[in-house]
Amino acid sequence: MTIRSVRGMRDILPGETPLWNRLEATARDVLRCHGYSEIRLPLVEKTELFARGIGEETDIVSKEMYTFADRKGQMITLRPEGTASVIRAAIQNGLCQERSVTKLYYYGPMFRYERPQKGRSRQFTQLGIEALGSVDPRLDAETVIVLMDLLVQWGVPEARLAINSLGCRKCRPPYLEVLRGHYSGHTGDLCSDCRERLEKNPMRLLDCKRGECRGVREAAPVMIDSICGDCLSHFDAVQGFLRAAGLAWDVDPFLVRGLDYYTRTTYEVFSGLLGAQDAVAGGGRYDGLVKELGGADVPAVGFALGMERIVLALSEGEGRVAEGPTVAVVTLGDEAQTIGFNLLIDLRRLGVSAEGDFMGASLRSQMRRAEKGNARFVIIIGSDEIRSGRCVMRDMTNRRQEEIPLEGAAAAAASKINPNTAGPHPNSDTLTQALSQRERD
Ligand code: HAM
Repeated sequence: MTIRSVRGMRDILPGETPLWNRLEATARDVLRCHGYSEIRLPLVEKTELFARGIGEETDIVSKEMYTFADRKGQMITLRPEGTASVIRAAIQNGLCQERSVTKLYYYGPMFRYERPQKGRSRQFTQLGIEALGSVDPRLDAETVIVLMDLLVQWGVPEARLAINSLGCRKCRPPYLEVLRGHYSGHTGDLCSDCRERLEKNPMRLLDCKRGECRGVREAAPVMIDSICGDCLSHFDAVQGFLRAAGLAWDVDPFLVRGLDYYTRTTYEVFSGLLGAQDAVAGGGRYDGLVKELGGADVPAVGFALGMERIVLALSEGEGRVAEGPTVAVVTLGDEAQTIGFNLLIDLRRLGVSAEGDFMGASLRSQMRRAEKGNARFVIIIGSDEIRSGRCVMRDMTNRRQEEIPLEGAAAAAASKINPNTAGPHPNSDTLTQALSQRERD
């Protein structure tokens, strides 16, 4: 029997990786412009980090973590998200100072044991940013602007931004009591999960998708009507900065997040193209987490987006384009194949992506492969070319072709492809050597 990948964990195949690479390169540019530096974090952390950071009663911690004992019996967990790890790393490495802003981003796989479906997997990739050190509403706005600018740069269609405020340590506890009071009057109408949430995590009651619970939610009190003056002016200021940046959004009073660390601003972005799992990104402020994890009293804000969902949203509109070499070297006969191989090496050393034949294929099938692979140029070498010392270079976009000398062919081709090509690579004389060897033979 063949061995298949673990359920909910998939391969990203060569037909998809060009899109992923493009998205990653654009993201790194956008994040650099906004002043975020990359941090690379371990895939596993002590279980306690997530239990304390995300919250014991959240779905992520109580149901979805890949947790196991290592050989010494220490409980460790495959990271289900990046925020807790970033904060752990920032505290451990002295990156978060009380009177300065630290801006970090991370990119990589996360693991949650959820029921797999379209847009939801057990291993998925997040790109996230975290800005530590300031309560300034401009920083909240900045993270939202980074997110929305990134989606625009990527061309993600139908992205809709929703924001809310979840209040602070002062105004949330009295609100939660009012919320509990409302739901307590309807326990008979609630699903079993919500009856449990009523006890353990009442804010999550507002997030239940079941029909019976939605009915109770309609008349529920919402946080945004109970936030204190400080939280309200902070929320107003954030919206002012978003408006000035030309963004559009809805305030969604039912937007609560699945992680317990949030305070004040929270937001999510949805794409209309995705179906049930339509959240492409989520984030917000979490002013208590650094302290909760043993650091100083440092406020923070950030978001993470799900790369697979971005790819899905983009693929709804876009066909897959194979990424081929710039030059296909087509050869006929043993001797031409060897000369062609040396030409490939020289082209690559000059920074030109090039591919050739390793199968002894016919001219026709090599040409067909070059076309299928979207090669921009084809260089053809057969016995006539070897005899005359000149080979044919064909531009596949307009079918025009010209002859170039075999000796120095790589440099000549490279400078036609990219007129700014620098001088030859120190080792890029394999073709000339091969040709002189031929002369000697
Ligand atoms: P989150 O909302 O749990 O937030 O995840 C962020 C994004 O990750 C989601 O919007 C979704 O696109 C993607 N995602 C989550 N679970 C899955 C899954 N099972 N399959 C595919 N994609 C998924 C966080 O993780 C927070 N750490 C965000 C944050 C950063 N808040 C502040 N800073």
